[in-house]
Amino acid sequence: MGFFSDIKILTHLIFKPIRGKNHQDRLESFYAGQASGYDDFRKRLLLGRKELWDLLKEPSKDCIWVDFGGGTGANLENFSSERIAKIKKIYLVDLSPSLLKMAQKRIDDRGWKNVELVEDDATTWTPPEGKVDVVTFSYSLTMIPDWFGAIENAKKILKEGGLLGIVDFYVARKYPLENHQKQRWFTRNFWPVWFSSDNVFPSPDHVPFLHQKFHPVEFQEHRAKVPYLFFLKTPYYQFVGQKKETP
Ligand SMILES: C[S@@+](CC[C@H](N)C(=O)[O-])C[C@H]1O[C@@H](n2cnc3c(N)ncnc32)[C@H](O)[C@@H]1O
Repeated sequence: MGFFSDIKILTHLIFKPIRGKNHQDRLESFYAGQASGYDDFRKRLLLGRKELWDLLKEPSKDCIWVDFGGGTGANLENFSSERIAKIKKIYLVDLSPSLLKMAQKRIDDRGWKNVELVEDDATTWTPPEGKVDVVTFSYSLTMIPDWFGAIENAKKILKEGGLLGIVDFYVARKYPLENHQKQRWFTRNFWPVWFSSDNVFPSPDHVPFLHQKFHPVEFQEHRAKVPYLFFLKTPYYQFVGQKKETP
């Protein structure tokens, strides 16, 4: 916790080269040395996560929820224990064994019997039940190289009328969709370069693609302060969409 933990995480973020032959190896190379300090640092960087859960409607009694790229499961702390108990099953799917280890500890500590961890890929994993009610991606879409595949897979496993919830970094297109925020040249060009050294890819295409594939129920655009980048704020959004009947 605190300044020294921040220094360790920042050193890791800035100087540690990411190595690996495939996506999972690269994720593990990135996360293995920072898993323990992960939650505290990210709490200040990854904003809007609790608000996203609040935007998603209270799930029904038999709700099955998939959180793709759920990491350490810190996000589940944003639910009340009553809300967690109401959900029939929560699958937390992630490719990083180091972060899943932290998630397992959290689940054991909290005694969450309905939360199951799955070490697998968001672009291909399907639940044993076939279809689910809610799928979420919290700051994971920007880390998934085949993000088209991840959104297509989410759509495939959602029931008709099911909800997709996303909170993540993004940049706007030069000419954004109507009623969406415009961004300056610096914002659109600086953040993709800055984040890319950590294999995080804020894209101008995530938001338009989501609006094309899902019926938008909620869309909000915000800015977050980045720890130690004093004057700069990075754009992030929250999107809740309902599965459309059309392909
Ligand atoms: C920035 S972290 C976000 C973690 C968590 N959702 C949160 O809000 O704190 C991104 C997560 O996505 C996971 N991830 C990246 N690519 C993935 C993939 N193809 N399938 C599953 N998880 C993936 C990473 O391992 C990491 O846990």
